[in-house]
Amino acid sequence: MIKKGIILAGGLGTRMSPITKSVNKQLLPIYDKPLIYYPLSIFMLAGIKEILIIVNKGQTAQFKKILKNGESLGIKIQYKEQKNPNGLPEAFLLGEKFINNDCVALILGDNFFYAQSLTKSLQKATKLKNGAKVFLHPVNNPKLYGIATIKNKKIVSLKEKPSVTKSNLAVTGLYFFDKNVVKLSKTLKPSKRNELEIIDLLNKYRKKNKLTAEFLGRGGAWLDAGSIDDYYDTTSFVSAIQKRQGFKIACLEEIALNKKWINNKIMKENIKFYGNCDYSRYLKKLL
Ligand code: DAU
Repeated sequence: MIKKGIILAGGLGTRMSPITKSVNKQLLPIYDKPLIYYPLSIFMLAGIKEILIIVNKGQTAQFKKILKNGESLGIKIQYKEQKNPNGLPEAFLLGEKFINNDCVALILGDNFFYAQSLTKSLQKATKLKNGAKVFLHPVNNPKLYGIATIKNKKIVSLKEKPSVTKSNLAVTGLYFFDKNVVKLSKTLKPSKRNELEIIDLLNKYRKKNKLTAEFLGRGGAWLDAGSIDDYYDTTSFVSAIQKRQGFKIACLEEIALNKKWINNKIMKENIKFYGNCDYSRYLKKLL
């Protein structure tokens, strides 16, 4: 069972400058809550309670202000600072102590997932003991993502931001790894863009026949809120679904309460913490 997860919430957010010059992208609002609530909710739905959040140098206090040590959500949150955005697999080097030779999941702090039976697929993915697992989803612009080519449901090739490709299946920012991940990450060399590449790490698993894929399905939504347009599309999506259904997407306290990780007393403290706002009125209704 995978019980640990890392959220990569650093990066320079260059594509969203000047907005991200003084604020970390993952703390910006996606409709009514900070962006980081969405990837964190994915881990909580997967039953992952031990979480390491990797943030930029000097930004731990900002994240702690809102998520604290996770106790108010019935989970455990630790933080680690990354000096420079040296690439996604650096998460496993910075997180070596946290991982402590266990299997681990990784989610990118700017990735948004919403799909039918997602909780089921996530819980299935946490059963991984050997190898690595990725979630694939079709995109219109494969040049912007890690792209997988599939034959008979097997990944036969993986490329980061290919200029030419026949496949439109993006490797989304949610990954599950066995305990070899730290050892393998240490063997990676920086790419042409001078970053350690997650695709290079996944290729190491693929070449050993140890990489499997799940599909979010056509009815599912995956957005990477990394550019201005995608950021606003994600906000519109959340706003539309929430207004229509009356349910909130990525309400962390709701997930924790349903899983019985927190009780009504902690819930009341959370309501007090948020103060007089729509979010806390929603929490009140859950009691
Ligand atoms: O969104 C999915 C895509 O994410 C994958 O399809 C690609 O294979 C993968 O390389 C990645 O591509 P991006 O170019 O979108 O990654 P980006 O540099 O935007 O970083 C994604 C998130 O991770 C972002 O929230 C910032 C954070 N990050 C990134 C790097 C490189 C860090 O915290 N530290 C880092 O060193």
